[in-house]
Amino acid sequence: MAPRYKAPRGTQDVLPQDSWRWQRVEAAFREVCRRYAYQEIRTPLFEETELFARGVGEGTEIVGKQMYTFEDRGGRSLALRAEGTAPVVRAFLEHSLASTGGTQKLYYSCPIFRYERPQAGRYRQHYQLGVEAIGSPGPEIDAEVIALFHDFLGEIGLQGAVTHLSSIGCPQCRPALSAVLREFFAPHIGEMCEFCQARYESNPLRILDCKVPEDVERRAGAPSALDHLCDACREHFAGVRAALDALHIPYEVDPTIVRGLDYYSRTAFEVIHPGLGAKDVLMGGGRYDGLAEMLGGPPTPGIGFGSGVERLLLVMEGSGMAGWEPAPRLQVYIAAASPEARQPAQLLAAELRKAGLSVDLDFTSRSLKAQMRETARLGARFAALLGEDELKANTVTLRDMESGEQESVPRAEVAGRLRTDKA
Ligand code: HAM
Repeated sequence: MAPRYKAPRGTQDVLPQDSWRWQRVEAAFREVCRRYAYQEIRTPLFEETELFARGVGEGTEIVGKQMYTFEDRGGRSLALRAEGTAPVVRAFLEHSLASTGGTQKLYYSCPIFRYERPQAGRYRQHYQLGVEAIGSPGPEIDAEVIALFHDFLGEIGLQGAVTHLSSIGCPQCRPALSAVLREFFAPHIGEMCEFCQARYESNPLRILDCKVPEDVERRAGAPSALDHLCDACREHFAGVRAALDALHIPYEVDPTIVRGLDYYSRTAFEVIHPGLGAKDVLMGGGRYDGLAEMLGGPPTPGIGFGSGVERLLLVMEGSGMAGWEPAPRLQVYIAAASPEARQPAQLLAAELRKAGLSVDLDFTSRSLKAQMRETARLGARFAALLGEDELKANTVTLRDMESGEQESVPRAEVAGRLRTDKA
């Protein structure tokens, strides 16, 4: 019979046979963040809807079309976390993290919710690994954030990713850029989508983010932000490039980058991979020097990135995952030969677990033969047999599941024996 309930469209269950891969990616990310001295921050799964509307921007696809918004019983409008940056900056302001001085270097690993058309690598709930470095205006921190992701890809052994780098200017250069973009699109704007027409007046840079295929074609040859930067932005971009070059982090300058969120200024980057669909990127990020102010705080520069775990795993799987093996799950399986041995088996399991070993045993009153089959199926390193003879002699029969050798070990020595094997 087909199951009555399924996971909601665009979401997925991570099952035990896959969760070790997730753990490996997340552990590698945490490890690299540790090396770069980023500390974890956890924000709520939902926020005031207005936080995203203000921070990410009313005119963006995320806020306009993709948010999971609901009213709670108190009549508040809330939204499931639609991205990670606005909540982190909100927390930074709320808890006065600036007062500790210096740059706040934060990371997160959390689910994000967007009502998107589901397909490979695109989900309605995805998990994002991200960092936010808040408080430093200089180009060196931009390079550090990009280098951190580069090192993370090295840590998980992913090859073939390419970092695309650009600058989208600041509020000083934006008016000139908007003017040239309006001039470029003026002859066609009447035929373009509703979204583009609305953005033509308010923020023509957003037109470059439209996904309608005809509009994508129309923007070929559109003026690039890189050609219209003010002196300060040009200098900043040169500084980022110089720092990346000094660190030997490879990248390509790509003036076509337009990030889908309004808070960006200056540095913008995306990491792409041939294993993903042409429209999907592995990682995206940039500088958001105006965001804290947009959220009612003092001017505070910031930069960060986000990268989806599902996409990382998709490209890892596509490239073979060389050297990725699940860690052995079980060290010992205790097999009880008779009903009388069941309780002693559970006590032995308790003892061995206290000694740090991973131990399992039968809970379905199976025959000894079936328990031995289970030991093999679970890939346990040892079987510990407890029967009448063992109980009388206060011993355990240990069977090495690789060699098939068996030996009788005094019960008090079992933990020590198995631990030595682990080492
Ligand atoms: P974003 O480009 O919207 O940026 O998302 C960042 C990453 O999340 C994407 O590159 C992709 O790997 C993953 N992602 C996004 N949407 C989906 C989806 N529907 N399914 C699977 N994966 C997805 C941000 O969210 C910014 N907050 C990043 C940032 C941090 N900028 C500065 N700091």
